Amino acid sequence: MNSPLAPKRAMRLILALSVGLSLGAEALAQSAGAVAPRTYAVKDKNGAPLPAYTIPDDASIFERPDAEAVFYGQRLLNETQRLLPDHVGAAMNCNSCHVMQGKKPLGAPFINTYNSFPQFNPRAEREMTLEERINGCMIRSMNGKKLPVDSREMRAMVAYMKWLAQDVPHGARVQIKNASPFDTSLVPDPVRGRALYAQQCASCHGADGEGLKDARGHIVFPPLWGDESFNIGAGLARTYKAAAFIHDNMPMGVHTDGAWGEGRTLSQQDAVDIAEFFTHMPRPDFPLKDKDWPSGKKPKDARY
Ligand code: HEC
Ligand code: HEC
Repeated sequence: MNSPLAPKRAMRLILALSVGLSLGAEALAQSAGAVAPRTYAVKDKNGAPLPAYTIPDDASIFERPDAEAVFYGQRLLNETQRLLPDHVGAAMNCNSCHVMQGKKPLGAPFINTYNSFPQFNPRAEREMTLEERINGCMIRSMNGKKLPVDSREMRAMVAYMKWLAQDVPHGARVQIKNASPFDTSLVPDPVRGRALYAQQCASCHGADGEGLKDARGHIVFPPLWGDESFNIGAGLARTYKAAAFIHDNMPMGVHTDGAWGEGRTLSQQDAVDIAEFFTHMPRPDFPLKDKDWPSGKKPKDARY
């Protein structure tokens, strides 16, 4: 980029440098006042207690025989668009939504993921393997193409999720939530949502939901709508799923505590109003939509 930055854009870049780029790393959490706990109770299938789980330090990856695969998986989740340009259609990385590399409770974490697959998928109405579920996010949230199940990339992503699960046995659960319960009886008001978006979100995600890239074209703030966002088949295209995500995680950088200074400034009503507004702005279609919910048992916020 040769032209000087417009002041508003420059301000967003500074915000990005001070807040956005340190994400994913634990640096922000470490320097904050109250840090989210790292140790959680574990229960087996029958609810009996097992030894506690602690979110592992990245340095422990070096001690593993599969260290190379785990580190590659971690990079792929962080820099998905840059490393897999032929497979990713959106200006999005996996960790744009799986907050802090899948280590943040309520931020779509991967902590229980490895141990909870294969799993029944309500949208497909059948059981799915972990690889199939990852490809679900590839073709919907990333608006891209499936990775071959036995590719080095797929195996690396799974290796990272396996490392994150540590020695929790298959079928047991670390006692965290992937998202907080959300009141789906709230009636969204997208007009109010548009105004709240301008106040609370546009500084990072852009006035037109376009997000922000650095001079090399790498993602700093992911887009919330438009051609480069997730498609209508993504979980986040649904009002109440998006509302729960932003209620728990956005706006980030507004406090000096918590995992990344996030949230707790939007009421559930605010979140549902903003979510209805941005999820229904123009975004790519999902060509395989006819195959979802084959027997018609759709949630009320399904997009098709
Ligand atoms: C636009 C946001 C978004 C992006 C980008 C995204 N995901 Fe997801 N992903 C979600 C949400 C939301 C869920 C939970 C869906 C639900 O509640 O049904 C999810 C669920 C998953 C699950 C199931 C987790 C579990 O424990 O049940 C896996 C695995 C997964 N994603 C992997 C990935 C991978 C790998 C990528 C990148 C290739 C990716 N996701 C990109 C939003 C996203
Ligand atoms: C201080 C900057 C900042 C503000 C303000 C902010 N976000 Fe975000 N948002 C981010 C960053 C950074 C990510 C990606 C996280 C990552 O890469 O680790 C993100 C990710 C997201 C995502 C998932 C990825 C995507 O593009 O769909 C959604 C949805 C989202 N934000 C919605 C919102 C909403 C709604 C608001 C206003 C209530 C908001 N954000 C305010 C910085 C911000």
